[in-house]
Amino acid sequence: MAMSPPGVDTQGLPDLGEAPLMENPFRPGNQHDEYHELAVQIGERGYAGNCAVCHGIQAMSGGLTPDLRKLEEWDDEFYLQRVTSGTEQGMPAFRENLDQTAMWAIKSYIESVSP
Ligand code: HEC
Repeated sequence: MAMSPPGVDTQGLPDLGEAPLMENPFRPGNQHDEYHELAVQIGERGYAGNCAVCHGIQAMSGGLTPDLRKLEEWDDEFYLQRVTSGTEQGMPAFRENLDQTAMWAIKSYIESVSP
């Protein structure tokens, strides 16, 4: 089998289904914010295993990739779309490796290390 990103085990977080949500459901004040802390923990592992190689340790970009700490709340839809589908400029598509529960957990981690 070809090398592929490891994904992340999201056990303990709710299954968010297939229909893409427009906002991070784990952000304080949102639908599933009771899972916020667990989402950050799982997201930290997911980020380290799937994203850090390009976007930098703790999301501190070395300058060759966008600095994910600069994403704003209103970029949620954009975030999910990019992570799901990738771009032709070097951002891989993660739809085979991460479900949206994992993607939002990673977003929660990124927010936790954002200024
Ligand atoms: C192989 C390197 C690589 C990996 C791995 C990678 N990315 Fe990216 N990512 C990029 C590049 C390069 C861009 C800029 C692409 C562009 O401008 O079209 C990007 C862009 C993005 C963007 C759009 C940001 C913006 O401001 O335009 C998001 C969101 C993103 N990545 C999230 C992630 C997440 C989350 C992960 C892990 C699940 C990840 N990326 C893994 C290389 C990578």
